[in-house]
Amino acid sequence: MHKPLCAGMLGSSLALLIGLAFGAAPQAGAEPKKDDAVQRGLLAGKDVPRDVLAVRQRLVKLGGNLATHMVANRGHDNPKLGSFSFFETYTGPIPGGKVGQGEFFLGFFTVPNSPDGKLTVDNEPAAGALMMELIAWDYTKELYNFWELIGDGKTGQWKYRGDSNDILADVAEVYLTKDRPKFGKRLRCSACHTLGGPIMKEIDEPYNDWHSGNDPLPLGTWKLDEGEGKEATNPRHVAALLYKNAGHPSRMAGEVVKGIDKLIQARVWHKDKLNMRHQLRSLFATMEINLASDTVPFSKRVKDGRAVQLPQEFFVDAFFAGQQQIPVDLKVYQAVLQKVNARFAAKETPGLVESYHAFNVPVRSWIDHVVRVELRAQGLLDRQMIASVLAIDFTTPIHSKKRAALLRFVPEKAKDGADLRKQLMAELEKAKGDPDAQQLLTYLSDPKKYTVAHFAAQARDYLDVLRKGANDVATVFDWWRIASQRRVELKTAPTAPTPTHNITEPGFRVIFPEDNLKSTPGQLWLDPKTGRCTGT
Ligand code: HEC
Repeated sequence: MHKPLCAGMLGSSLALLIGLAFGAAPQAGAEPKKDDAVQRGLLAGKDVPRDVLAVRQRLVKLGGNLATHMVANRGHDNPKLGSFSFFETYTGPIPGGKVGQGEFFLGFFTVPNSPDGKLTVDNEPAAGALMMELIAWDYTKELYNFWELIGDGKTGQWKYRGDSNDILADVAEVYLTKDRPKFGKRLRCSACHTLGGPIMKEIDEPYNDWHSGNDPLPLGTWKLDEGEGKEATNPRHVAALLYKNAGHPSRMAGEVVKGIDKLIQARVWHKDKLNMRHQLRSLFATMEINLASDTVPFSKRVKDGRAVQLPQEFFVDAFFAGQQQIPVDLKVYQAVLQKVNARFAAKETPGLVESYHAFNVPVRSWIDHVVRVELRAQGLLDRQMIASVLAIDFTTPIHSKKRAALLRFVPEKAKDGADLRKQLMAELEKAKGDPDAQQLLTYLSDPKKYTVAHFAAQARDYLDVLRKGANDVATVFDWWRIASQRRVELKTAPTAPTPTHNITEPGFRVIFPEDNLKSTPGQLWLDPKTGRCTGT
């Protein structure tokens, strides 16, 4: 989701080769006919719907289930601009078939700063305006197609932007070059849907910025139109209806997870052309992120005086230690907020200090996890190898430059898990002067000593140190420094094409509080022995 547009397009012949390596369409210009819900349900036949409301009406007429979800673009407690996104999923009949869960997603927006103060679906076909974005499973290609409906001043024009394989070709260099990777320009969707599938940053509870019946998004001064749902062609009526009917975000998460499973299984199991290095990026690095935070709204913590619960996977990969929390005394946490001068969307809602749930931080993504699980199921990875890799720089579970740099020792092809291990060890062996390579070699060479249990115990010791430090302001300040750095890293990581075009959607979304630290990517990490910052 993202409003600003950029022109994607044409690939070089090198890119085409990479595309081939991923099993993309064999001939340039001979794009196979689309076989998805957009083509079959919306574009085939007469009376093609050309605006957001017409698309919704068509889907309702097809007779299936259109489920709505809603997210606050600028933070749960910052409705000032009236900027929200609606995400819908459709399941049910389309001509010649049936759409299953995780196969069809639609996204559209409200009109920010709507002049009459009413929540309004943005249905204006202004020239160049992004009206709707769609992701639909292609039943023939077995991957997703990415579509947009773009205004031309009079009506909406349908644009097919590419598919999951085009995205893989766009991100083919990510983490695999020494310098900053060149991001392909086939489609702008690659900047955030980095592995070519649906995404949801808050894929797990507490769904910080999402709307639900029992925890509705505050609308501030924005009003809902009384004509709620009466006319399906009235963008104010529809907005009011969508707000009222939006389902729980866990439903959307369920469909995103289904979609991810579908895509990764189709890719890992049925295509033997995937390059090993590309696949293992999800182990050595992270191609996408999710967000984790405290479990209870910060305002409630303040009211009850209870400890803030920091997500453990921020400190160490869940592979070693699961997904528990580290409690931090509320007073200690508040002292840190004050020290760093934390503020959330200060220009829009003065006085907010934190996101709705405190300590909202990027963590390893579900899709990267699924890739790892599938590679294991396929026999390419075993648990000891996963643990050995994650144990390198283990207090930096995401955006570890050290761990990501080891990808260059992974072979491009391997027959099976044993062959992969053998080739990797042979390459590490040659890198005598590289301490991280030697460390990984040590772990892989002695699997009886460096067992999963060994590394899990190491993680437990570290977590004990953290728990002991959790009531010390200076220590928790150090954790904030790391959180602040990881938030900045989202804009500079190899997965971000530019600091302004990436998963944080600068200008459109407000996700994190600001602070006065001027954090620099890659500068600090936590010492496992002390739980304190150390760095360059
Ligand atoms: C700048 C980042 C960004 C770009 C670029 C982007 N998206 Fe998304 N998109 C998101 C995020 C983030 C979500 C989910 C909402 C969330 O997690 O807050 C999303 C969700 C969606 C959804 C709902 C299904 C899902 O994945 O959750 C659709 C459909 C969608 N995007 C289509 C597109 C299409 C088509 C393009 C390219 C034409 C595109 N997006 C480009 C960030 C982006």
